[in-house]
Amino acid sequence: MISKRSCTMSTTSAANPFASQGLFITFEGLDGSGKSTQARVLADRLRKEGYAIYETVEPGGTPIGQQIRRILLDPANQELGAIPELLLMFASRAQNVEQAILPALEEGKIVIADRFTDSTIAYQGSGRGLGWEVVLELERIACQGIRPNLTLCIDVDTETALNRARARNNTNRQEARIDEQAAEFHQKVREGYLELARREPERFRLIDGSGNEQSTAVKVWDVVQAVLRDASPARSVSSSPSSNR
Ligand SMILES: Nc1ncnc2c1ncn2[C@@H]1O[C@H](COP(=O)(O)OP(=O)(O)OP(=O)(O)O)[C@@H](O)[C@H]1O
Ligand SMILES: [Mg+2]
Repeated sequence: MISKRSCTMSTTSAANPFASQGLFITFEGLDGSGKSTQARVLADRLRKEGYAIYETVEPGGTPIGQQIRRILLDPANQELGAIPELLLMFASRAQNVEQAILPALEEGKIVIADRFTDSTIAYQGSGRGLGWEVVLELERIACQGIRPNLTLCIDVDTETALNRARARNNTNRQEARIDEQAAEFHQKVREGYLELARREPERFRLIDGSGNEQSTAVKVWDVVQAVLRDASPARSVSSSPSSNR
C-alpha cells in the first residue's frame, strides 16, 4: 500500500486530514453523454487490474440519497425551484461523503463517482444561472474538503447527448425531469463544463465522447493509466478484487 504522501494528486486537505489514501475519480458530462457507461467500464477494468473499487452515483449513492434522487429526477416535480434543487443535490452529496466516500477513501479504495460537485457547478451554477460562488459555498459545508483527484468529462454536443438520453429514457421515464429541460439549458451546462476544463486542466479532462463506447473507453483508460502511474493507490491484496456491489 503506497502512502498518499507520495501522490502527486492528493485528496488530503487541511480541512480533511483523514482522507489520506485512495483516489477519487469522477465522471461528468451532459445527460446521455455516456458517463454511466464509461464509469462501469472503467470500474470493471480497474477491478480486473486488482484495485479495490467503490462505485457511487449522484444524486443517490446512499439509501437516503436515493430517496432524494427520486425527488430531484421525477418529471412530476415541475414546481421544484432552483434553490431547493441545489440544496437537495448537496443534501444527497453530504450524506454520500460522510457515509460512503470518505470511508472508502480511508480504506485506500479508488472511488468512482458518476457525477459530483462539478455537475452542480455546471447545472445549477451555469445552467440555472445561480452562479458558481453559491455552489462552492455549499461544497465547503457538504464535502469535508473532498475533491476529485481526476474528473473525466465525457464531452459530446447537446444534440448527441439528448438523442442518447431520449433513447435511454424510453426505458426509464421516471428520471427524466432534468433531461427534459430546453436545449438552451443544456448548452449553458456544456459551457459550464468547458469553463471548468479551462480553469482546471490538470484535474478536469475533456474526453471526446462522440465515438462509440469502445473508442471512448480507450480515451478514458489512457488518461486514467497516466494518473495511476503517478498516484499508485492501494491495490487489493486478495486475489478476488473487492467490490461494494
Ligand atoms: N459512445 C456511445 N455511443 C452511442 N451510444 C452510447 C454511447 N455511450 C453510451 N451510449 C448509450 O447512450 C445512452 C446513455 O448512456 P449513459 O446512460 O451512459 O449516459 P449518462 O451520461 O450516464 O446519462 P445520464 O446523465 O442521463 O445518466 C445509453 O443507452 C447508452 O447505452
Ligand atoms: Mg447516467
